[in-house]
Amino acid sequence: MRLRSGARGTFVPAAGTGASGPVERRGRAAADGILRYGAIRLKRVYLDNAASTQALESVADAVRHALLHAYGNPSSLHGMGLEAERIVEGARAELARALGVEPAELFFTSGGTEANNLALKGAARARARRGRHILVTPIEHDSVLNALNALKAEGFEVEYLPVDGAGRVDPDRVRERVRPDTVLVSIGAVNNEIGTVQPLAAVGQALAALGEERPLLHTDAVQALGKVPLGDVIRHVDLASFSAHKIHGPKGTGALYVRRGVKLLPLAEGGGQERGLRPGTENVPGIAGFGAALRELEMLVQAWPRMRALKEALWEGLRDGLDGVQVRRLGPPPAEAAPHILSVAFPGLRGEVVVHALEEHGVFASTGSACTSRDPRPSHVLKAVGLEDEVAQGAVRLSLSRFTTEEDVERAVAAFRAALPALWRFARLRGRGGAR
Ligand SMILES: Cc1ncc(COP(=O)(O)O)c(C=O)c1O
Repeated sequence: MRLRSGARGTFVPAAGTGASGPVERRGRAAADGILRYGAIRLKRVYLDNAASTQALESVADAVRHALLHAYGNPSSLHGMGLEAERIVEGARAELARALGVEPAELFFTSGGTEANNLALKGAARARARRGRHILVTPIEHDSVLNALNALKAEGFEVEYLPVDGAGRVDPDRVRERVRPDTVLVSIGAVNNEIGTVQPLAAVGQALAALGEERPLLHTDAVQALGKVPLGDVIRHVDLASFSAHKIHGPKGTGALYVRRGVKLLPLAEGGGQERGLRPGTENVPGIAGFGAALRELEMLVQAWPRMRALKEALWEGLRDGLDGVQVRRLGPPPAEAAPHILSVAFPGLRGEVVVHALEEHGVFASTGSACTSRDPRPSHVLKAVGLEDEVAQGAVRLSLSRFTTEEDVERAVAAFRAALPALWRFARLRGRGGAR
């Protein structure tokens, strides 16, 4: 049935249309994941889990409990303060256990962005007398690249490491780029657009061979927590950033791992919370939710094989079923990529057009990083791995969670099949401008 829209959220069936055509975008999605368009119900298929995940029931319960009951200030001396402090320390212990580090090496932040800023600016400023040279890959998240851009204005020199077509760095080449004045190296553990898993343990070993004067190694592990084994990575890095909302926790909560003995300068002045490194009253509800999500981290680990299998089924469905529409898989070979990210491109189409067309069929995806998806320029990640503009502009990221089902994949493939051939024909008829 083709539908034309009435007022927002109300939909009127168009006369003489079939039963399974596209539906008006922006129907209402209730918490049960059902999109309702008047009498029409469409199950929502959420394939944007690298941007954010649905919170677990246990997370919502923990946040609610902290808001309504454990609302004391963790710094207060009375029992309610102690109760809030216990929640914060419980979550810290949970993360410490997951990473195999000491609770005292973890600092809560307002998310991955702040953790990256604190790590990079905090470490660079603390070491500025020793040197001002920083190494980073060109495929990092904007919260890394822009934090380093800010440091350039303070006189730091930022050098971009070469990556191969899959986005990977070569540990030996990283070591070769280190100069006597290199104070910091930052390499993301898992890339958020194409799922590249970096050889961080090997990079850490290569840097360790440089001895006492080696630079610090930071990793943005926001997309890695719960998605790839991290024990070996954490043993070889000095700083690592995390975010709760990528593992079914709440938004606005994250953490920074700081290896014992590493000195950072805080970004803000305030009270002594988080041992003075991150002052400000702790976000107890957010941290409570992070703790609850961490308690189910093992379930994420158990879902890896299933996620990989579903991702492959999704790819095969696109590769084989799009009626002549060109599709390319981007990023590393499947076995080497993170289990939750499938990046594809439809050269000749624009990613954002595809994303909007999918939404009309109840499927939610992204063009690349959610933070930059409103930026019309081709992704810096896809350019850095050598893709031509035409391919990069046609990129779509599909990202799975432990809750993605076989039915979701089937529905997503059906949505691509329903939407893309017409877009493709239209784009070919009108030239590239027609697909904008
Ligand atoms: C790799 C990576 N780093 C950092 C962030 C930022 O995390 P947050 O949203 O918690 O600030 C994200 C989120 O998209 C990410 O994917």
